[in-house]
Amino acid sequence: MNTIITGLQWGDEGKGKIVDYLTESADVVIRGQGGNNAGHTVIANGTKYVLHLLPSGILWDSKINVISNGVVIDPIGLVSEIERIESQGISITPKKLIISDRAHVVMPFHKELDAAREASLGDRKIGTTKRGIGPAYADKINRCGLRMADLFDRAFAEAQITHRVAEANEILKRYDLETFDAAKVIDEVYTAFARLSPHVTNTIPALHAAWKSGKKLLFEGAQGTLLDIDFGTYPFVTSSNTTAGGSCTGSGLPPTAIDAVIGVCKAYTTRVGSGPFPTGDEGLSTYLHDLGREFGATTGRPRGCGWLDTVLLRFACMVNGVTGLAVTNVDGLDAYETLQICTGYLVDGTTHTLPPADRSAWDRATPIYESMPGWTCDTTACKDFASLPAQAKAYLARLSELCGAPIAFVGVGPDRTQTLVAN
Ligand code: GDP
Ligand code: IMO
Ligand code: MG
Repeated sequence: MNTIITGLQWGDEGKGKIVDYLTESADVVIRGQGGNNAGHTVIANGTKYVLHLLPSGILWDSKINVISNGVVIDPIGLVSEIERIESQGISITPKKLIISDRAHVVMPFHKELDAAREASLGDRKIGTTKRGIGPAYADKINRCGLRMADLFDRAFAEAQITHRVAEANEILKRYDLETFDAAKVIDEVYTAFARLSPHVTNTIPALHAAWKSGKKLLFEGAQGTLLDIDFGTYPFVTSSNTTAGGSCTGSGLPPTAIDAVIGVCKAYTTRVGSGPFPTGDEGLSTYLHDLGREFGATTGRPRGCGWLDTVLLRFACMVNGVTGLAVTNVDGLDAYETLQICTGYLVDGTTHTLPPADRSAWDRATPIYESMPGWTCDTTACKDFASLPAQAKAYLARLSELCGAPIAFVGVGPDRTQTLVAN
């Protein structure tokens, strides 16, 4: 069984935790898109791990982890992540982690260009993670990016970096921002590459060999459907296809290799960065922040929180072909007496049950809510689906009905053990 794990909201749905849980019965875990804008939290055996570029399967000794061609890799960021995770007692060897030679490189100047663009947008800024993701993907599409394979040809890479640094400096000067010294950039990139190069290989034959020999593949999506460059709340999106198809183009494994798509969502909605958020709710945000929850794993920013939005989820289930839902953070609603579920948006008197494409329509969208009784008890100690309170089961059943996909897993806490299998 080869499974894609994909986010159904605006990221941070708990994908890392679900991937980690499913890794036990998988052989290979693959990150197929995004970069270190992702922050995936796994809590296992009392230790918290935050992963940005490393697939969450890295925490399991016997699994193979792949950073495949669709990912953009900040080599300096990846080395510091490897060192941090190794300092937590996890070994990262070339046998355990392979990196695609086709993956594009995020350069230090991409991060600065990201920040410059944000500054120039003023109050229309995207609220990016400033990890250089947009500029790196732009170079990829613009056919002037550098790939991991290019770093093996030092003369070529040095010339390319020198040229791109000069171009980037022109832009940075316009904003009175600090410019880059090409020799220093080359030195930093190659210092990091020395640690990474033993991992870099053509990952496509390795993945096909695993597939053909019946190994179980698990694709770890990053970000979420509403951040997808095609399907998200454009322009307030990231720069890759975060939806299930991105796992195929991002890895070189074809759609025929995929058996299941698990869509991960929270029992409510969160988002970081700018952009529309019709069900955002200050009361719920304050409540969750006061509990110490919903701060970004990558940037530490407080996430905006809101009620469950099934307009988004319905659409996300469609475009991802979700075969099962993993609903996390059910315990986040434990104390609420009455819960709201958004079933549609009212825009200029018309009801929308799918998200509009027109960006101005988002600003005029009013959520249509239905209420459900909360369960007002602690679910964190529930050991199986059957022991969930009846109101929680009813809430999940309604969610499933409105989205058109069955519930597969339920999260009642951040720990590896707090994942329940629905039946
Ligand atoms: P990801 O980016 O989709 O992997 O999600 P993040 O790790 O950025 O954010 C999800 C947050 O929710 C993390 O702090 C997780 O530890 C936490 N989490 C995941 N599932 C659950 C759950 O079922 N209950 C609780 N309380 N926390 C959860
Ligand atoms: P995971 O994998 C939540 C958001 C940023 C911003 C927008 C564009 O942990 O779910 P970018 O830096 O990608 O150009 O920023 O996308 N964003 C995320 N939000 N979770 C993520 O990843 C995100 N990755 C990017 O906040 O709104
Ligand atoms: Mg995250």
